[in-house]
Amino acid sequence: MSEIIINGGKRLSGEINIQGAKNSVLPVLAGTILCKGNCVVNNCPDISDVETSVKILESLGCKCHRDKNTVTVCGECVPHYEIPEALMREMRSSVVFLGAIIGRNGRAVISSPGGCELGPRPIDLHLSALAKMGVTITEEHGFLYCNAEGGIKGAEISLGFPSVGATENIILAAATAKGLTVIHNAAREPEISDLADFLNSAGARIYGGGSDTVYIHGVEELRGTEHSIIPDRIAAATYMACAAITGGEIKIRNIMPSHMVAMLSVFRESGCNIEISGKNLTLKAPDRLFSIPQIRSQVYPGFPTDAGPVIIAMLCKAEGNTVFSENIFESRFRYIDELKRLGAKIKTEGKIAVIDGIASLSGAGCKATDLRGGAALVTAGLAANGTTVIGEIQHIKRGYDDIVGTLKKLNADINYLNEE
Ligand code: EPZ
Repeated sequence: MSEIIINGGKRLSGEINIQGAKNSVLPVLAGTILCKGNCVVNNCPDISDVETSVKILESLGCKCHRDKNTVTVCGECVPHYEIPEALMREMRSSVVFLGAIIGRNGRAVISSPGGCELGPRPIDLHLSALAKMGVTITEEHGFLYCNAEGGIKGAEISLGFPSVGATENIILAAATAKGLTVIHNAAREPEISDLADFLNSAGARIYGGGSDTVYIHGVEELRGTEHSIIPDRIAAATYMACAAITGGEIKIRNIMPSHMVAMLSVFRESGCNIEISGKNLTLKAPDRLFSIPQIRSQVYPGFPTDAGPVIIAMLCKAEGNTVFSENIFESRFRYIDELKRLGAKIKTEGKIAVIDGIASLSGAGCKATDLRGGAALVTAGLAANGTTVIGEIQHIKRGYDDIVGTLKKLNADINYLNEE
């Protein structure tokens, strides 16, 4: 299995472009199922989750073409409605295809998405909302059989938690439903707005995407369209953390600063000087970062849970202690034992991690436990004395478009080992 090898201690410097957002391209690709025509999706990151999404679309009968950063999907004919179990297993977030498949075909069969590295990943909010929209759902032998005889009906839905995936599934199911759907307490992440923009460009009538109340007037059908995915705010934070922990100075092009307000204030509080000009950001880090007394992950626009691992890694070498409270996922700290192999001083208790900043980390062998946990190991390895080898990097390839090539552009001493 391929690995990543890093010789740490070099200050990062240079300029990079940010990839398209993984958490936007997945629901947008699901949305192409609803479009009776050709959809061209630009600025797609070249990541394995996109590869899996294309396989799902092809298993449904869509004709797809993918060249590095553009995916073209022809949804003229989508005869199938079952996602193969292997693909469901490969990517837990494929549950977001459910609403679109039912919207197009009136029915869907998926295997219950297993848990994942972040703990149980229930989909009760998705299913109860779809049931309110007239979808009957039965579970047998680990499969969910969903039926909307006579089509999906608009409904008024109040989410008990502003779930990103549930909000996306409801929007996708409601786009071509009969009547009006209103979502109260909707997730407000920028990826929701991007999905609404994509669907509206295909003829949908969605208002309030990105706010906590979304109105979707169902339309007869959607047509083909062209759309460019928003920049990945979590990937941007990842490369900023890599520069910050090494005392580096980098420039990042093509970001949306308004999507990153909570994260930018954390970087500034740690002592980084950040200048924004349009869609470009320059980060200049101090020789040693300051710790941050308390960071809490929250739903958007609060500090995003996905940036937690790389920020925790970055603060392992800060001056002083940081307390990080993870408020979104059950067990998002599995990677911390791997960070400790590089000498990090972190204590965890439930959803709280206390990072005791130390002057230096030392390179070691370690393994990625999940996507963002793997990125945290890369971040720490870049600043560790000596060599770090990271295994199980398939987790990292799910969400980062050539993380090694990108970091090489920033003067990092990093390579793939036994690249497959
Ligand atoms: C999306 O996951 C993202 N994934 C996650 O990014 C991100 O961490 C998360 O939103 C929060 O921002 C994609 O967009 C593909 P949720 P999702 O539904 O939709 C509970 C990454 O690293 N919940 O907002 O699964 C759930 O258990 C990934 O890029 C229910 O209880 O997140 C969790 O504790 C990781 N019932 C919380 O809500 C439900 O029906 C947040 O889940 C749904 C969710």
